[in-house]
Amino acid sequence: MILTSSMTGIASPDPLQHAFKVKSAPHAGRSGSRPIKVDEQLWQQWWQTETTADKRALYIHIPFCRKRCSFCNFFENGAKPERISHYMEVLCQQLTLASQTKLAQSQPFDTVYVGGGTPTDITAEEIAKLGQAIQRFPLADNAEVTLEGRLNGFDDAKFNNALDNGFNRFSFGVQSFDTAVRKAAGRFDDKETLLKRLQQLSQHPSASIVIDLIFGLPGQTMDIWQQDIQAAIDCGAHGVDLYQLIGLAGNRIDKASEKGKVLGTETSEFQADSQTRASMYAYGANALESQQWQRLSSCHWRRDDRERSVYNSLAKSGIEILPFGAGGGGSIHGHGMMNARDLSEWHQAQVVTEDAELSSQTRLPAQVPGMALSPNPSAAFDAIFKRGLDSGTLSFDGMETDVVIHLQPLFEAWQQNGLATIDDTCLKLTLAGRFWNVNMQTGLFEYLAKNPMNAEAQLAS
Ligand SMILES: C[S@@+](CC[C@H](N)C(=O)[O-])C[C@H]1O[C@@H](n2cnc3c(N)ncnc32)[C@H](O)[C@@H]1O
Ligand code: SF4
Repeated sequence: MILTSSMTGIASPDPLQHAFKVKSAPHAGRSGSRPIKVDEQLWQQWWQTETTADKRALYIHIPFCRKRCSFCNFFENGAKPERISHYMEVLCQQLTLASQTKLAQSQPFDTVYVGGGTPTDITAEEIAKLGQAIQRFPLADNAEVTLEGRLNGFDDAKFNNALDNGFNRFSFGVQSFDTAVRKAAGRFDDKETLLKRLQQLSQHPSASIVIDLIFGLPGQTMDIWQQDIQAAIDCGAHGVDLYQLIGLAGNRIDKASEKGKVLGTETSEFQADSQTRASMYAYGANALESQQWQRLSSCHWRRDDRERSVYNSLAKSGIEILPFGAGGGGSIHGHGMMNARDLSEWHQAQVVTEDAELSSQTRLPAQVPGMALSPNPSAAFDAIFKRGLDSGTLSFDGMETDVVIHLQPLFEAWQQNGLATIDDTCLKLTLAGRFWNVNMQTGLFEYLAKNPMNAEAQLAS
C-alpha cells in the first residue's frame, strides 16, 4: 500500500492552514482517454445518433473581453464589436443547425451555460438572438440557463432581453468590491456602483443573481476580505462563489511575481500567503453560514433556493455537455471534446463545412478541429469522487464495498489529519477538508494510480 503526504496531507495541529502546502490546481482529474481522430463520417454519426445520457447540458463559449484583468488568463480575444457580431451570427447559425439534429432532440437539456470571456459584453440584440437559438433545443422544465460576465456595461436593455429570451441565471465576476483592489486588478467600476447595480438586479422576482469573489488578490488584506464578504451578503445576490486566487502562468500577477513584485494597490503591497488564504476561506464560509446561507459545494453558497447551481453540480458529475464556440469544451457520446481556441481556425471550420455539406441531406454543426478523446472507462467512477468531495460529503451508498475497503487507508489518514470524518455511511469533509478538497481529489486519484484496484470493481461501482 503506497500512501504519501501528497495524498493524505500532513498531520498538523492546524489542518486548515497546514495540511497541504499550496492548492495543487484549479481542478483535479485523471484521464483514461487518448486523443482520437474524428472523420466526417464519425462526426455525422455522432449528431445523428440519439444520446444515452439521462442528464445533459449545453456549454456555449464567448471568448471576448474588453480588458485583460491582472489575475486571469481566460482572456482570449479583444472585444471588437464587428468581430463579436460576426462571431455571434455564425454561432447562432451553428446552434440552430445543432438543435435540429437527432442527438439534440433525443433528450431534454437540464442546464445551459454561456461562459467566457465576457458574454455580457455582447449587445442586447445579440443576447436576444442567442437566447432564441438556445430555446430551439429541447429544454427540461425549469431548465437553468446562465449568462456569465461582468456588471460593467450590463444595462437594463441587456438584462430585459436576456430575461425575455429564456435566461434565468446571471453569474457576475466581482472578484473584490474594494475600489483600490479592483483598480489594481484592472477592473472597471467602484464599490458603490457595483452594490447599486447588484441591488437593482437582485430585485427581480425570479432570476438568480450570483457573484464570484476571489481571496488572495494583491492588496486584499483580511480586513478588506471581511468587507467583501459583508458586501456580498448585503448586495442582494442569491449565490456567491469564493475562489482562492490560483497562480496561473502568464497572467500579470504571475509575471510580476517572477520579478519579485506584487501588483498591489497604491497603499498596499500585501498579498495573502497560503495560511492567510485558508483563514480567509474559513472567515467567508463561517460568515455566510452564520447568516443561514446554504453551502452547495466547497466554494459555492446560496441565500435561498432560487439559486440552484445546476450546471456546476452536474458538470462535476460527468454528464453529457454539448460544446459550442471557439474554445468551448464538453463531451459527446462519452468523448471529451474541445473546439479550436483560435478564432480564425474556428471560423475557417464553418466555411469548410458549408462546402462539404452541399451533398449532405442533413446539415450539421461544423466540426471544429480541436481535440477529441476516446471515452474514459473510469469517467463515471471518478465523477462519484469529484462530485462527492466537492460537495463535502462522499456517500458510500451505491459504492461497491470493495471500493470503500480499498480506499479505507486513505480515508483514515484524512480523518487523522483533520480533513474528514468517516462513519459507516459516508465521508464528510471538515472545514479544512473543504478548503483543501481539490488537493484531496488529486490525492485520491494518485492513490488509485499507485494502488490500482481491480478494474471490474471500478466499473461495477
Ligand atoms: C471565466 S471568468 C469570467 C469572468 C468575467 N469575464 C469577469 O470579468 O468577471 C470566471 C471566473 O473565474 C475566476 N478566476 C479567474 N481567474 C482566476 C484565478 N487566477 N484564480 C481564481 N479564480 C479565477 C473569477 O472569479 C471569474 O469571475
Ligand atoms: S476576469 Fe473576465 S474580463 Fe477579466 S480577463 Fe478574465 S474573463 Fe476577461
